[in-house]
Amino acid sequence: MRVVLEDVSFAYPGSVEPLFLNFSYAFDAGTVTAVVGPSGTGKSTLLDLIGGLQLPDSGSVELHDAESSRIGPRCSWVLQNNMLLGGRTAVDNAALALIATGSPRGESRARALDALTRFGLSDRADYPPERLSGGEAQRVTIARCFLSAAPIILADEPTGQLDSLNSQLVFDALIESASDGKVVILATHDQALAQQAHAIVDLAG
Ligand SMILES: Nc1ncnc2c1ncn2[C@@H]1O[C@H](COP(=O)(O)OP(=O)(O)OP(=O)(O)O)[C@@H](O)[C@H]1O
Ligand SMILES: [Mg+2]
Repeated sequence: MRVVLEDVSFAYPGSVEPLFLNFSYAFDAGTVTAVVGPSGTGKSTLLDLIGGLQLPDSGSVELHDAESSRIGPRCSWVLQNNMLLGGRTAVDNAALALIATGSPRGESRARALDALTRFGLSDRADYPPERLSGGEAQRVTIARCFLSAAPIILADEPTGQLDSLNSQLVFDALIESASDGKVVILATHDQALAQQAHAIVDLAG
């Protein structure tokens, strides 16, 4: 898997200056790339362009997938505003990544529980999102992302609400996903984590 951006230019409608002007970069499988830069420099927008939520005005965003017969989504998202289904428990939310691709419910829940345990949430498995703290909800979305078979992980500030111990747990899981052959792209303000990534894209520079 390889994500290749070539000469990408993009401006939000109505904005004076383009956010990206002839931006080129290739994100490789097996690599965690940290996207850094001050607030408003376009980190989230870059993930949107890669995930297909925004289209470039010119240039190209291509996902080169060696497994041409792959079924299912190619991008697994961790969004800035934790997308969890209300009224469903943490374990059901985490299991969604598996159930969505046809895994049996019982097995999906068992694997989801393992993932929640890994992120320190075994005693929150039966809580609905409404009863989780911001950081707990964030870790449920990470667990769900970690379970997804999608070959690209787009993580937007996945540690924004976490303490340093939990941030490191999450980062280690991203490194592990990269070791499994995924393309991992992490937008972050956390310099300590960015320094541990395999590559850094600095949008300020
Ligand atoms: N839907 C939108 N319409 C118009 N402008 C937008 C839209 N979304 C973002 N922008 C603008 O584009 C710029 C980049 O936003 P983006 O969210 O990509 O930044 P960011 O680097 O992720 O910031 P942060 O660190 O605060 O998350 C900002 O100036 C923002 O105001
Ligand atoms: Mg952002």
